[in-house]
Amino acid sequence: MADNSETKETLAALRAYLEALQESGVEGLPFGEVNGADELAMVAEPHLSYAAAPVTAETLDGIRAEMEQCHRCPLATTRTNLVFGVGNPQARLVFVGEAPGHDEDLQGEPFVGEAGQLLTKIIQAMGLARQDVYICNVLKCRPLHNRNPLPAEIDTCIPYLFRQIEAIKPAVIVALGTFAAQTLLETKEPISRLRGRFHDYRGIQLMPTFHPAFLLRNSAMKKEVWADMQQVMKRLGLVAIQRKD
Ligand code: URA
Repeated sequence: MADNSETKETLAALRAYLEALQESGVEGLPFGEVNGADELAMVAEPHLSYAAAPVTAETLDGIRAEMEQCHRCPLATTRTNLVFGVGNPQARLVFVGEAPGHDEDLQGEPFVGEAGQLLTKIIQAMGLARQDVYICNVLKCRPLHNRNPLPAEIDTCIPYLFRQIEAIKPAVIVALGTFAAQTLLETKEPISRLRGRFHDYRGIQLMPTFHPAFLLRNSAMKKEVWADMQQVMKRLGLVAIQRKD
C-alpha cells in the first residue's frame, strides 16, 4: 500500500496533468474508462467554444449600417429611404408593424402617416412618448402601392428584425396587425384569435393587437386595442393616466 508521501505525489501529478489538459481547452473527461486511442483523441481535442473569442453584442447602429447597403430584394431599388426603426435603443417596449408606407418611405421613419399618428396617440395614452419605446416594421423598405408584403420579402428581411430585437432585449413586444404577429409567432392564426393574450417570442412577452390602419377603418375595435395595451402596461408596471376629456 502506498504511503502518505507517495499518495501526495500521485495526487500532485494528477492535478498537474488535469490543469495542463484544462489549459489546452479540455473542459471535461468522460465518466468511465477510456480504452481506445480514438476516445483518447476525443478527450484531448480542445473544445472549440472554449477557445473562441467572446461574442460581442450587436448594436442597432451596426445593424442599420449593414442594412443601408442591403440589396437582398427588389424593394431596395424602389425605396426612397430605408425605414430602419426609431426610438430608445434600450426600450422595454417595442412596437412592430408591417412595412413602411408612402410617408414613411419619404421620411425614413416608421409610423409617421395617418396610422402612425394614431399609434403615437396610443403610446401617449399609455403614459409614454415615442422616444421611450422602439418602433419598427417587419419590412424596412416600402412595397409599392402599399400592397401586402410577399412571403419572399418577409423571409429575406426578417433576420434584420430578429437582430434588432436581440440588440434591444425588450421586456414586451406589441405586434401590430396580422403580418407582424404571424411572422414573429410563426403561425397562420388570424389576428382576431391571437390578440388579447401574451405569447412567447424567444422568451419575450409578445402581445398581438390590431394594426392602427385597421383601427382607422374600424374605430369600434379601438376598445379591444386599449384592453390589450392595458395588459401590456400592467406587465411593464405602468400606471394608466386618467384622461379628463
Ligand atoms: N404601417 C406600418 O405597418 N408601418 C408603418 O411604418 C406605417 C404604416
